[in-house]
Amino acid sequence: MHAPILAPSLLAGDHAALGDSARAAAIAGAPWLHLDLMDGHFVPNLTFGPETLAALRRAGLKTFFDTHLMLSEPHRYIEAFAKAGADLISIHIEPAYDHAATLARIRELGVQNGLVLNPGTPAAAIRPFLAQVDLVLVMTVQPGFGGQSFRRDMLAKIALIDQWRREQQLSFRLEVDGGVDLNTGKECHAAGADTFVAGTAFFKAPDRAAFARTIAGW
Ligand code: DX5
Ligand code: ZN
Repeated sequence: MHAPILAPSLLAGDHAALGDSARAAAIAGAPWLHLDLMDGHFVPNLTFGPETLAALRRAGLKTFFDTHLMLSEPHRYIEAFAKAGADLISIHIEPAYDHAATLARIRELGVQNGLVLNPGTPAAAIRPFLAQVDLVLVMTVQPGFGGQSFRRDMLAKIALIDQWRREQQLSFRLEVDGGVDLNTGKECHAAGADTFVAGTAFFKAPDRAAFARTIAGW
């Protein structure tokens, strides 16, 4: 079992001062920073691009960049995000492109890879790829927007993927994203998750360091 990791989502930070928000997450003790990239096609929203990651690196951010690509054609942007400073790049299973080749390409660039599934996508869709990934991300909301309610019906999916991980003696991380706070995150932890994206709950927490410490203690 991996040690629990908190990955605050910069989507819930101050978009006029993303560097300050990213720094605040690191100072609070969060080991990862979650970066949500949206293309207005795969999801009905837009965020930022590789230049934002590069600018955060230039501004001195040393945090692990957990890069979540919500793009219809993620394979076209892997090099750009690797060059910009991503430590992990996760891609969705739902759009049609060569998933295996893209996962392999991410690793060739010296970056960890991740595979993401939407709430409506069954766990079986990612099963053939489990031996090739560093992380599986189970969406606990429909992606596109922060601040949505946690989907408790995703707990069984988390538990199933964790079971496959144990049966196959694999060591990928199991991440959850969407509506995660200290209560829903704890339920995900009990189901087998070890990596916790929190946007709204983290940035609105009265004591962010305490929030980070709580998750580190699970
Ligand atoms: C949703 C994004 C999430 C989002 C989570 O499309 O993938 O990372 O920022 O935000 P909260 O924690 O507010 O649900
Ligand atoms: Zn995300």
